[in-house]
Amino acid sequence: MRVAVYPGSFDPVTNGHIDILEKTSKIFDRIVIAVVHNVTKNALFSLDERVELIRESTKHLNNIEVECFSGLLTDYIREKKACAIIRGLRTMTDFEYEMHMSMMNKRLMPEVDTIFIMSDSNYIFVSSSGVKEAAMLGGDVSTLVPAAVKKGLQEKLKQFKQK
Ligand code: PNS
Repeated sequence: MRVAVYPGSFDPVTNGHIDILEKTSKIFDRIVIAVVHNVTKNALFSLDERVELIRESTKHLNNIEVECFSGLLTDYIREKKACAIIRGLRTMTDFEYEMHMSMMNKRLMPEVDTIFIMSDSNYIFVSSSGVKEAAMLGGDVSTLVPAAVKKGLQEKLKQFKQK
């Protein structure tokens, strides 16, 4: 069985992530989405909320699992017996960050490669941080995120307004 891990912050999952999942779910038998607590990023959604939003948004795909994870990615890859790491690529700015990360992971675990999937041109500009900022300022992000995420963002905005 060919298992791949798709790690990321997913705060929140966007249509760009879903596009990558739709493409890779045809290539691998099982994909484990590893939702990571990234200490360098200020999260809007809790880890549990992010997991739930991904589960809601990937119901149409039958070979996806979603979990939280902390620690070293390569340890998690070993635990899951995965043969690949999935990452999406949008622009040259992504490339440098992704190249360093994939080389570090390759050094730590030479038998596993990172598979990069180019984002669909519709989503090249879509980032979780951009979506959060636009949504929290009242912008319409309905073409950029799954319906469940749109609802989650609206709830967060309502909570902020009540404070
Ligand atoms: O969506 P993000 O925040 O760009 O994802 C980054 C992520 C979570 C893939 C990366 O930070 C990661 O792999 N973290 C786990 C810690 C680790 O293994 N670091 C060493 C490899 S660079």
